[in-house]
Amino acid sequence: MKAFVIPRPGAPTVELAEVPVPKIDDAELLVRIRAVGVGIHDSYFLPTNATYPYPIGIEGAGVIEQTGRGVLGYRPGDRVTFVSSMQSKGGTWAQFVAVNADSLIIPIPDGIDFPEAAAVPVAGNTILRAFRALELMPSGGTLFIAGASGAIGTLAIQIARRRGWRVVASASAPNHAYLLSLGAEKAVDYHDPNWVEQVLQWMPDGFDAVVAVQPGTSSQSMQLLKDAGALVTISGDALISERGVRMSGVPYPMDVRDELAQLLTDIAEGELHVELERVYPFEQGLAALAKVQTRRARGKHVLRLE
Ligand SMILES: NC(=O)c1ccc[n+]([C@@H]2O[C@H](COP(=O)([O-])OP(=O)(O)OC[C@H]3O[C@@H](n4cnc5c(N)ncnc54)[C@H](OP(=O)(O)O)[C@@H]3O)[C@@H](O)[C@H]2O)c1
Repeated sequence: MKAFVIPRPGAPTVELAEVPVPKIDDAELLVRIRAVGVGIHDSYFLPTNATYPYPIGIEGAGVIEQTGRGVLGYRPGDRVTFVSSMQSKGGTWAQFVAVNADSLIIPIPDGIDFPEAAAVPVAGNTILRAFRALELMPSGGTLFIAGASGAIGTLAIQIARRRGWRVVASASAPNHAYLLSLGAEKAVDYHDPNWVEQVLQWMPDGFDAVVAVQPGTSSQSMQLLKDAGALVTISGDALISERGVRMSGVPYPMDVRDELAQLLTDIAEGELHVELERVYPFEQGLAALAKVQTRRARGKHVLRLE
């Protein structure tokens, strides 16, 4: 099969190669990949027991080809989308992948195609966990999102609005109309040296909660929080709490499987929008990886396989 691989341990490049279809064991599914969600982490999330050449990637959507003898609840022909991280046999940037049946696997509802489905599991899983940590319940409140026009922010704005939260978000000026279209009530440009003051003019009492998506955005965003507010850093910023602010990273482990399935249903029913900035033919995977590594993607970049 075709796959984008790290050819050998420590190799600095990802290459398109011909490799064997993985053999599944009793607890695994073999999935024929139809679309791949591209993430900045894809070229370096590698298990210590990887077999080389190692197909990269942790997120995909496709059709179950075969089930291991011990697997219950899945059948060949099922359409699924999933996160399959750190699997020794390889990841999702391939025509076939072996997926442990305990992975985060969600059936794809009617009304969603493979590229849309492949764009959801990592971003959806991440923001649903982050919102649990923030206790972003349907009671309403105010939320600031730093770095909001990417895959995570696109979902975050819409989910928060559906839970009755008021949202202000940051991105470059050309993306402001996009953020407002998703439900943000104001958008600020993080390039402006006075962006924190601008936001505080709009929300003088500060925010109940912050999601800091991009690395390095937490400390300035902290200035926007009310005393005893809550902040989640998606990219693992190191932080020192002040003013009783409750801080965390994305909490693991936590089961958001049902919420993720509901998210896909909401997307299928047109209640939520998934932004695909670009869908690439599989062979152009390295162009997609280069784009997401700029940290300037709008929504998600996805590879499509026939
Ligand atoms: N903890 C987890 O489980 C987990 C899971 C998945 C991803 N992540 C992390 O989440 C990040 C990727 O998130 P994503 O895919 O949603 O976004 P992304 O595609 O990396 O970023 C796009 C957004 O970030 C903005 N941006 C870029 N630099 C910024 C800065 N210095 N300050 C504020 N905003 C900035 C961009 O704005 P413009 O383009 O408009 O300028 C845009 O809004 C990565 O760091 C990844 O490692 C963590």
